[in-house]
Amino acid sequence: MSEGNESTTRRGQWSSRWGFILASAGCAIGLGNIWKFPYITGENGGGLFVLIYLGCIALIGLPIMLAEVLLGRATQKSPVGAYRDFSCKGSPWVIPGWIGVMTGFIILSYYSVVAGWALHYTWLSLQGGFSGMDAEQISSTFGSVFSNGTLNLGWHSAFMLMTVAVVIGGVRSGVERIARILMPLLFVMLLVLLGLAMQSDGFSEAFSFVFSPDASKLTRAGVLEALGHSFFTLSLGMGAMITYGSYLKKKEDIVSAVVVISILDTVIALVACLVLFPIIFSFGMEPKAGPGLVFVSLPIAFSQMAGGAVWATVFFALLVFAALTSAISMLEVVVSTIIDETRIKRTPATLLCGAAIYLFGIPSALSGTDGFAGEGFKKTTAVVFGEDQGKNWFDTFDYLASNWLLPLGGLMIAVFVAYRAGEAARRKGFEEGTRFQNLYVAWLLLLRYLVPIGVVAVLLHALKII
Ligand code: PHE
Repeated sequence: MSEGNESTTRRGQWSSRWGFILASAGCAIGLGNIWKFPYITGENGGGLFVLIYLGCIALIGLPIMLAEVLLGRATQKSPVGAYRDFSCKGSPWVIPGWIGVMTGFIILSYYSVVAGWALHYTWLSLQGGFSGMDAEQISSTFGSVFSNGTLNLGWHSAFMLMTVAVVIGGVRSGVERIARILMPLLFVMLLVLLGLAMQSDGFSEAFSFVFSPDASKLTRAGVLEALGHSFFTLSLGMGAMITYGSYLKKKEDIVSAVVVISILDTVIALVACLVLFPIIFSFGMEPKAGPGLVFVSLPIAFSQMAGGAVWATVFFALLVFAALTSAISMLEVVVSTIIDETRIKRTPATLLCGAAIYLFGIPSALSGTDGFAGEGFKKTTAVVFGEDQGKNWFDTFDYLASNWLLPLGGLMIAVFVAYRAGEAARRKGFEEGTRFQNLYVAWLLLLRYLVPIGVVAVLLHALKII
């Protein structure tokens, strides 16, 4: 393998601390930041929701991310091996490791379909975009994209191929290299769009929507949604950060790295809001458009804007880049586990996992149709979710993964590192390479008490107990 250190250490390694930070920022910053965060902020009335989300990131997400990276770096293994090494051979703690791998598998299978929409919209924008179309036509475009199985299948295939191609390249010449190119590009594109948004009439209205707390607009469900999203956006609970931490040298400072990654992820999510809402407000549209915010409201705004086709291309390309660097992290979790646990080499392992995930994603790509994955699955799942509440294949697995598997995985990590890991190994894992050794006790306290309570609250909410 061409990778620098792989010949000596057998395992890939980041070329530097910044290589790790950029790759991890790439993993964290994704559709969650640019597609999902703005629309849930819109649905939950802005200000106060944002404030609570920031609190969740700092007090719950950050400690868990540190636990994951610590576990990965200390063991130099992907989730299953990391859990095993930090407990003992034959310990049942490998089960959460395997659940994490399964979660990565599931999320990527449908994430690729949403990324496919972004690819399709980039393609549409390149062809002159939405100019000349009225609002009705644009919103029916989104509807017809979702219900067009062949189209979705095509873009799902294209996106999975791109993801597989990067992961085959390995840690340094695949994952890190693409992050080093795409992340700075993403930052620049977002700044350019922010410049555009700042000149629009709606900017001050948008600014106060995002930053002035208004208690009357937030529901109890919104508080818990903020917590759930902090897991998704930081890629926690499925071992992605364990895996990325495992490619890190022992001398690196993980405490400051984790803080930088969380800040980058949060800033990008906030900037995405400050790009979207001014445009939406300037055109007199509602912030509550739901998942269609990016695929319907924004194209409507672009269609009425001078140079709209160019801006639309920039925006949707940015969405594709963000999705790609996240998707590779999910595939990397699955692939690196196969490499660690079997003797299979990277290339066949990637092809095998990529193909399996691709196949599992096909029903997601067909979820807007009348067939088995769409209407058929809705009828079947109505038995579980209740009459008229049935979900298609896509929604079922999104619900399962985001609402259950990620929080459960995060809880497991926190409990494992806080209660099961030995004090000496845990302290060493934290302190190695960092100047912030005095934060150890505060971190451990958060991990022991606040994190489990917070996560259990989300799960109880999902069960409608609180
Ligand atoms: N954090 C990514 C996003 O915001 C999604 C993700 C979840 C990536 C879990 C990896 C693991 O889009």
